[in-house]
Amino acid sequence: MSKLAIDGGSKVFAEPVKFDVWPPVYPEVAGKLVEVYMSHKWSFYGANELKFAEDFAKYHGAKYGTFMVNGTVTLEASLKALGVGPGDEVIVPSWTWMATGMAPLYVGATPVFVDGEADTFCMDPAAFEAAITPRTKAVIPVHLFGSMADIEKIVAIAKKHDIKVVEDCAHAHGGMWNGKGLGSFGDIGSFSFQQSKIMTGGEGGECITDNEDLFDRIGRFSHIGYQLGARRGQAAVLPPMDLDCRNYRATEFQAVILADQLARLDADSDRRAANADYLHTELNKIPGIATQKPGRCATRQQYYVFGITVDPAMLKAGKTRDDVLAAVNAEGAIEVFAGWGQPTFKQRLFQVSPDRYRVESSKVVEDIIYNKIMLADIRWVDGERSMCEKLVECFRKVMQEYGK
Ligand SMILES: Cc1ncc(COP(=O)(O)O)c(C=O)c1O
Repeated sequence: MSKLAIDGGSKVFAEPVKFDVWPPVYPEVAGKLVEVYMSHKWSFYGANELKFAEDFAKYHGAKYGTFMVNGTVTLEASLKALGVGPGDEVIVPSWTWMATGMAPLYVGATPVFVDGEADTFCMDPAAFEAAITPRTKAVIPVHLFGSMADIEKIVAIAKKHDIKVVEDCAHAHGGMWNGKGLGSFGDIGSFSFQQSKIMTGGEGGECITDNEDLFDRIGRFSHIGYQLGARRGQAAVLPPMDLDCRNYRATEFQAVILADQLARLDADSDRRAANADYLHTELNKIPGIATQKPGRCATRQQYYVFGITVDPAMLKAGKTRDDVLAAVNAEGAIEVFAGWGQPTFKQRLFQVSPDRYRVESSKVVEDIIYNKIMLADIRWVDGERSMCEKLVECFRKVMQEYGK
């Protein structure tokens, strides 16, 4: 058994890992950005924006798309368009980014947090159903990290109870469930294009839907009441009285960058899927280590980050997930981390509104968050196979020493 790097042994990564800065950049896109700059048309229903919004929606199997500033306001706009407001409850996962839980608060409703599944970490359909009350108006399942919520089960339960479904696809651009694009199963799909995401324009977001009325409401809400395609000063038709509209417009520059990434998405996804398949196979052979299970009916799983767990029961006395993580990092495996560290309702924004949410269930995901999870940055699945091989070697080496 070779000595661990954390104990002074030699590292698996003899040379420091050199990741490219995320996201990748392409000179031809820089040229297109110059063209937009010189065109003087940078925003407000620009041609690039409208085309990208529609292409992105269609790519995911939905008819309509609305491009916005980020994936937080897309969730707010979704709930607003669906008429969710004060007195309503919205069921959200106990493990997600803050924005999913905050969206109900932004429209005056109450977020109700429910547990996830032990293998996919995504919203447990049974926990969702158990949390439904007469006030439940919507549910926001999240396709988290490198998996998918059981979207067909969730939609079926929602239909039975007349509940609206907003799919939070911030981690899942291009993901397919049974051959159909994520985001097109619920009433509305919400995407983020923030800097760290699979597709990014620095910032940005999009709502997709098949419903023309919702498309109109989302468009007006995010474009200060203007109907689709209206020029400045041409907001002829007043927005519906329940829509206190905002300006959440993104720019032509972001649309140009994202259109290029959309064109590359198929090839990028294939490359990452091959690396991810390798990691699933090899990491699951190591006693005590398991990987986040892909979506049950995933025909194309996407990876925002790659989820790996360690079973504390398989570790020597006194050793914890944090020890494994520190030892793996010491071997040179950078950008492998414990994640957000807390269930959503304990993240900072909820500390300022402690009496405005309800936690229905969270035991399963709390155990994963506090004791088991380790997340590998997207660049591990995006890069060379040899890097993945060495990443596996880090876990193998550490578990030989720390495992029972
Ligand atoms: C699951 C999830 N939903 C929503 C968002 C919000 O997206 P944005 O950062 O674009 O506002 C994020 C961002 O990290 C996210 O991870």
